[in-house]
Amino acid sequence: MIQKPRGTRDFLPDEMEARRGVEAKMREAARRYGYREVCTPEFEDLELFTIRSGEGILQEMYVFEDKGGRNLALRPEITAAVIRMYINEAKVAPKPLRWCYFADCFRYERPQKGRYRQFWQFGAELIGADTALADAEVILLAADALNATGVTWDLRVGHLAFMKNLLADLDPVAQRRVMAHLDKKDFDGLSVTLAEMKREDLADPLSALIACRSLSDAFAIAGSIPEKDRVEQMTGILDESGVSYSLNFGIARGLDYYTGMVFEGFAQNLGAENQILGGGAYRLAHLFGGDDVASAGFAIGFDRVMVSLGDVPPAKDTIVGIVCTDEGRSFALSVARAFRAGGIRTELDLMGRGLGAQLAHASKTADFAVVIGKREADAGLVTLKNLHSGAQEMLDPAAAIAEVKAHGAR
Ligand code: HAM
Repeated sequence: MIQKPRGTRDFLPDEMEARRGVEAKMREAARRYGYREVCTPEFEDLELFTIRSGEGILQEMYVFEDKGGRNLALRPEITAAVIRMYINEAKVAPKPLRWCYFADCFRYERPQKGRYRQFWQFGAELIGADTALADAEVILLAADALNATGVTWDLRVGHLAFMKNLLADLDPVAQRRVMAHLDKKDFDGLSVTLAEMKREDLADPLSALIACRSLSDAFAIAGSIPEKDRVEQMTGILDESGVSYSLNFGIARGLDYYTGMVFEGFAQNLGAENQILGGGAYRLAHLFGGDDVASAGFAIGFDRVMVSLGDVPPAKDTIVGIVCTDEGRSFALSVARAFRAGGIRTELDLMGRGLGAQLAHASKTADFAVVIGKREADAGLVTLKNLHSGAQEMLDPAAAIAEVKAHGAR
C-alpha cells in the first residue's frame, strides 16, 4: 500500500470543514484591516530563498532541478515570494500595499506533532510604510487574527536594534551566528561560540537583555539606539490598543531578513512546537532588484493553531436525501435541482437501491428525506420527512424548500 510522504497529512471532510471554518475567521480579521489576498507560485527560483532567508531555512529546503536545468525550490515561506511579486507586478502601486495569504509551505524538518514538512501559513505583508504605526498595525492584525480563532496564546514583542547594538563590533557573519543561538534558545551553544570568538564579555549583557522586560531596562543595557523614538511610539500604540503583550529583547527570529521590530506568539497549551506566530519589519526588495522599501509582516502557523484548538466540530449543514422510485426519478431529479438552487445540500441515491434501502441510508446520513414515488410525481408534490422527529407531510417543492430552510443548520 502506498503511503503519503513523511511529514504530510491527509485531511478528511470533517477536518477540512473545521479548518476552513477557522481559516475564515483569520481571513475576516485581515479583511477588516484592508489586507487583500495574494497568491504566489508553490515553487520559485532557488535563489529567491538563498539570498537572505538564513541558514536554518536553507538546510530545510526542498530543492530540485527541472527538465530545463533550472534550480528551483518549494517555497519554505511566503514573504520572499510576496516581495518578488511586488517588484514584478506592483512596485508602482500606491503605498502602502496591504496583502495577505493563506498558503502551504514546505520545510524538510523532522516531523512531530505541530511540525510538518507541508504546513499552512496565514500571513500578511505591509509594504511601503515605515512608521511606528505601521509596525503596530501588523502586530495588532496578527493578534486579532489569532484571537479570532479562539486559541490562548502569549504575544512577545521586541526590536533587533538592542541586540544589534550589543553586537555592533562583530562582523555580520558572527552576528548571525550569535542570533541563531538566541533564536533556538541554545545558550550552551552561545557560550561555546562566544568563547571561540573570544567575546565572553558579551555573555552577561546578552543574558541581561534577554531577561529584561521593560524598555527603560533595555535602553540601560544596550545603550542608546537610533530607533528609540520609534520603539517608544510603537509600544505606546500597543499599550493604548489594549492588546496583551510582553516585551522581549531576546527575540532573534530564524530568518535573516528582519531589520527592526520583531514579534512572536506562543500557544499556551502546546508543547515543544508552541510557536504559532512570527513576524517583524524587514527589507528585502532591494536584494531582489527593486528599490529599497520598508515592509513588515507576519505568518501564523495554521496547523499549530488547529492542534492548539483540538477537536473543532465541523461546520453544520442541513442535508436532504432524495428518496425516489423508478417512476418518480425524473421528477426527483428536477426537485433535487430546485433544492440545490435554493442553496440546500441535496444528495440522491446513485446505487440503484430500493425505496426502503434509500430511506434507511438517508436516515443515517441526512436530516430530511424528500420522498418521491409515483403518487408524488403525478401530483407534482413531495413527501418531506424530518428524519430526527419522524414528522412528515406532503408539500409542493417550493414549500418543502422553505420548510428545510426554516429548520436551520443541524
Ligand atoms: P517563521 O517563524 O519561519 O516565519 O514561520 C511562521 C510560523 O509558521 C511559525 O511561527 C510556525 O507557527 C509555523 N511553522 C514553521 N515551520 C513549521 C512546520 N514545519 N510545521 C508547522 N508549522 C510551522 C516566517 O515564515 C516569516 N515568513 C514570517 C513573516 C512574514 N515575517 C514577515 N512577514
